[in-house]
Amino acid sequence: MSHLTGHPESGGLSCQKELFSLPDGCHYINCAYMSPLSKRVEAAGIAGVRRKVVPSRIEESDFFTEVDEARSLFARLIGAAEPARVAIIPSASYGLASVARNTSVPAGQNVVTIARQFPSNVHSWRRKCDEGGGELRVVGCPTVSASGGPHAGPGHSAAWNEALLEAIDAATAVVAVEPVHWTDGTRFDLAALGDRAREVGAAFVIDGTQTVGAEPFDFERLRPDALVCAAYKWLTGPYSIGAAYFGPRYDDGVPIEESWLTRAGSDDFSSLGEQGGEYRPGAIRYDVGETSNFVLMPMFIAGLEQLLEWGVADISAYIARLTKALFEDPRLEGLGLGGSTPETTHLFGLHLPDDVDPTVIRARLCEDEVFVSVRGRAVRVSPHVYNDMSDMDALASALTAASSVPSSCLSR
Ligand SMILES: Cc1ncc(COP(=O)(O)O)c(C=O)c1O
Repeated sequence: MSHLTGHPESGGLSCQKELFSLPDGCHYINCAYMSPLSKRVEAAGIAGVRRKVVPSRIEESDFFTEVDEARSLFARLIGAAEPARVAIIPSASYGLASVARNTSVPAGQNVVTIARQFPSNVHSWRRKCDEGGGELRVVGCPTVSASGGPHAGPGHSAAWNEALLEAIDAATAVVAVEPVHWTDGTRFDLAALGDRAREVGAAFVIDGTQTVGAEPFDFERLRPDALVCAAYKWLTGPYSIGAAYFGPRYDDGVPIEESWLTRAGSDDFSSLGEQGGEYRPGAIRYDVGETSNFVLMPMFIAGLEQLLEWGVADISAYIARLTKALFEDPRLEGLGLGGSTPETTHLFGLHLPDDVDPTVIRARLCEDEVFVSVRGRAVRVSPHVYNDMSDMDALASALTAASSVPSSCLSR
């Protein structure tokens, strides 16, 4: 066994695999694709299904209390003071569509976004620009050719961040970004981008789906106007639910749908239809309809509670230690992939030689029960607390085995 065996201990957190049901021998290093459900989240979902078998168990107050609990937990996770500024959304694209709907981008103004950013934070802005005559500024990495994918690394991030900052001008209405590139973890300087957005009066809109929960979010420093997260990755929740913070800029906005649950007095079921219809305060107006989903909501809550119990800083420290060990493995260096630890340790891309098809490598890794993704030219690896050194070891071994096949068999 290689030097990678052993148990990381960092920030008090050790491997949490026993809280999950991943089978032995399954090296699932793909949280950026979707997290496995923990036993706790699974149990909450099963209890949620069972509850509706006998609906008398569902109180009218349950329509509100659980949703408000989820708001509070998410607010705590991101460091926001007001839970009422958190809306419950079914997807990142839904949350970002709400943001775009309530942001003006007239002709002569522009939206600055990142090349090949995840489309949930692009499509709504493209439509906005198409309809209003604004310009969508898609900023690529200047050190990478148009045909090449992004390449994570301090040099690339520095050049890319500079290009993004240069693209923001007095006519910028929105800076729509993600903290790290979803394909390979290239890190964007949110602090500098946020400062610049505020300087020119632009809305600062962050898709946190690939970051929040995996590393601490410095809310006070970053001060987003909107922060949108799907739950099924780093929030360890189920599919089709998430949360979004909306700042004061969006206090008087118009939601995508007019859910009766978002109106003041809607908790009094006996007089529904008689109220005037004022929205409840903050961002609640942006909630998806049927917010009080009695299966997904308890699962979402269970995942958030678990993250807060672990502590995001400790989760991040644990993951960083695994990734550091992987990059110190001589086998990775032998493949030309080793060296310094990537700038994002929970999501990073391994860039293979140009003649090697990463999809072929991925298929070969699957044969060895090592599960990662391919995004662009990169093999994307994304560990979490259910991973341990044996997963990193399996990845290094499988990569070595896959790469020992003649490159003619691995090429496109
Ligand atoms: C950065 C990012 N945002 C959002 C999503 C999911 O978007 P949606 O919830 O709109 O399906 C993904 C999925 O891979 C992602 O990588």
